[in-house]
Amino acid sequence: MDPIALTIVPACSRPEAAPHFAQLQFEAWGHLYPHSSIEQSTFDLRAELLPTTDLALLRMAWLALDPDDSPLGVIMLLGGGEVEPDDALELPGPWLAGLIVDPRSRREGVASALINFVTAKAKDMGFERLRLVTEHEVSFYERRGWVREREVTLNSVPNTVMFTTLAP
Ligand SMILES: CC(C)(COP(=O)(O)OP(=O)(O)OC[C@H]1O[C@@H](n2cnc3c(N)ncnc32)[C@H](O)[C@@H]1OP(=O)(O)O)[C@@H](O)C(=O)NCCC(=O)NCCS
Repeated sequence: MDPIALTIVPACSRPEAAPHFAQLQFEAWGHLYPHSSIEQSTFDLRAELLPTTDLALLRMAWLALDPDDSPLGVIMLLGGGEVEPDDALELPGPWLAGLIVDPRSRREGVASALINFVTAKAKDMGFERLRLVTEHEVSFYERRGWVREREVTLNSVPNTVMFTTLAP
C-alpha cells in the first residue's frame, strides 16, 4: 500500500480535534502521570505554538491531516515533564511526546511521518539530541534508529527512555 499523503499542521489550528486526541492520550498514559487529565491535554493541544529553545517553556503540538483534512494523529515536542524529577536531572529535554494515531488510521505510516516531522523540527531548532519515554513501543522506535538509554519508572510502572542523535 502506498503511504497516505499527509499534511502536518499546528494542533492549535484545529481546536475541535483536541478533545478526541486528548482522550486517546489519557487512555494511553493516564496511569503513568497521576496529575494528567483530558482537560489539561485538551488545553495543551490547543495552545499556540511558541517556538523556543528554552526547555522550561517548550511545549508544541502538531496534527497530521489526511487529504480530506481529517485529523489522524498528534505529536508533541516538550521541554520536560516526561520523566520523574530524579531522572529528569540527568535526562534533559527536548522530548518527543504525546504521539497518538487514531486507531482507525494505524499502520498507514502516520506515526512515522509525525516522528520524522518532529525530529526535523528539533534539529532545525538547533537541538542535538531528542529523547522519548515509552512503556510498550521500544522495538517500534528501535526500528526507526532510536537507542535505549535508561529504564525508569513512571508512577511505579517500568518504562524505557530512548534517544536519537540529531546530526548537524
Ligand atoms: C504506536 C503508534 C503511534 C504507531 O502509529 P502508526 O501510525 O500505526 O505507525 P506507522 O504506521 O508509522 O508504523 C506502524 C507499522 O505499520 C507499517 N506501515 C506503515 N505504512 C504502511 C502501509 N502503508 N501499509 C502497511 N503497513 C504500513 C510500518 O512499517 C510499521 O511497522 P514497523 O514498525 O514494523 O516498521 C500507534 O499504534 C498508537 O497510537 N499507539 C498508542 C499510543 C502509543 O503507543 N504511542 C507511542 C508510544 S510512546
